[in-house]
Amino acid sequence: MEKEKSFMNRSVNRRSLLKTGALAGGAVAIGAGLAGTATSAFADESKSRVTKGDIAILTFLSALEQVEADLWIQYAELGGATTQKNSSPIDIPFKTGLAPDYITGLLVLDGDMPQYIADNTDDEISHHRFLNNYLESKGAKQIDLSSFASLPPSQVTGVPQTGRLTNLQNLTIDTSWWTRYRSDSANPDFGGTFENAVPDLAKGQHSAIPVSNADLGVDGNGNISNHLQAIAFTAGFHFAFIEQGGSSLYPALAQKVTDLEVLRVLLSIGGSEIMHFQTWHDKAGNATNITDGNLTFPKLNIGVDPNTGVASTDAANSFQTNLIMPEPTLFLDPKLGPVSIIRPTSTAQGGAVASVVSFVKDGLFLDPATGQNTGIVNVLMRLAEEADEARRGF
Ligand SMILES: [Fe+2]
Ligand SMILES: [Fe+2]
Repeated sequence: MEKEKSFMNRSVNRRSLLKTGALAGGAVAIGAGLAGTATSAFADESKSRVTKGDIAILTFLSALEQVEADLWIQYAELGGATTQKNSSPIDIPFKTGLAPDYITGLLVLDGDMPQYIADNTDDEISHHRFLNNYLESKGAKQIDLSSFASLPPSQVTGVPQTGRLTNLQNLTIDTSWWTRYRSDSANPDFGGTFENAVPDLAKGQHSAIPVSNADLGVDGNGNISNHLQAIAFTAGFHFAFIEQGGSSLYPALAQKVTDLEVLRVLLSIGGSEIMHFQTWHDKAGNATNITDGNLTFPKLNIGVDPNTGVASTDAANSFQTNLIMPEPTLFLDPKLGPVSIIRPTSTAQGGAVASVVSFVKDGLFLDPATGQNTGIVNVLMRLAEEADEARRGF
């Protein structure tokens, strides 16, 4: 029954994506080199307690970590810290901090933003690399989606003009994680819905990186443009959007793992996603009240709902910037009382397919040349379905 229900949820997700053109082409075409990666990966089950389901989960997570690493690399190239004298060296293997004016915008969120961006990038690269090494150590195939790296990077001087897996220039960012973690009476796993903290980011398309040198530059007083400041703030909210996804995904999939060591892998990496999310959640709240075209970053500390303009105590509870600890809310059974938790942790809301769907809706795989998503979506969806189908013991 449960399986049937989750299958229906997946079907709905896929159908709605097809309807909106998000899954371009309709039929699921899988690159020949990837076919059967997760299903045939586990050659000799008798030598390990790691199950086919465990391999499917690890394979999907490795694929998604490669996507995460790709987007964080783009942020670090432009806004990451560079090595300073008498400081810990920045040890990611490419040039960072290529857009100092963008960094000026990021520093409004926190003086440590460039360091945190570099470190988050390092972490994601390590997640993908470790998961691939771990898969191989269990006799399974590594996953590499770099054949889908066809999206254009920023044109800012110095950025390697190589194709990327993700597009950070046409994002539609769901910022409802903000209110979801402040609610004491709703949980997405109980059907709760949540308002956006920055309603304008959730509609239209916005860039989270300077697209070209034209976005850079300072005026006579050394100030960056409102447009570049809005780009930096967009990045700030996008960082938290990405990492809250990981915060839910790992606990959602951990519930399906069979082998205890694989469980340890998921709990340990998942915890680092939560550390990222908490940091970015705090920093996003430092965005100031600016407007650039159709994008306004609202005042969140005046007790006014930025979606309705109505002042209330509820609005203060829902938007106040320093309320970054998870507010106790419903979990499992309302009779048990509210509890401070990661939310969601169900397959339907926070599982593998749900995570891919949220990345697709974010616009991460949108090819600006065609207005369609790249083929990576079909592969991620197939891997996600296999991961969500895993059951403890199988
Ligand atoms: Fe990660
Ligand atoms: Fe992450």
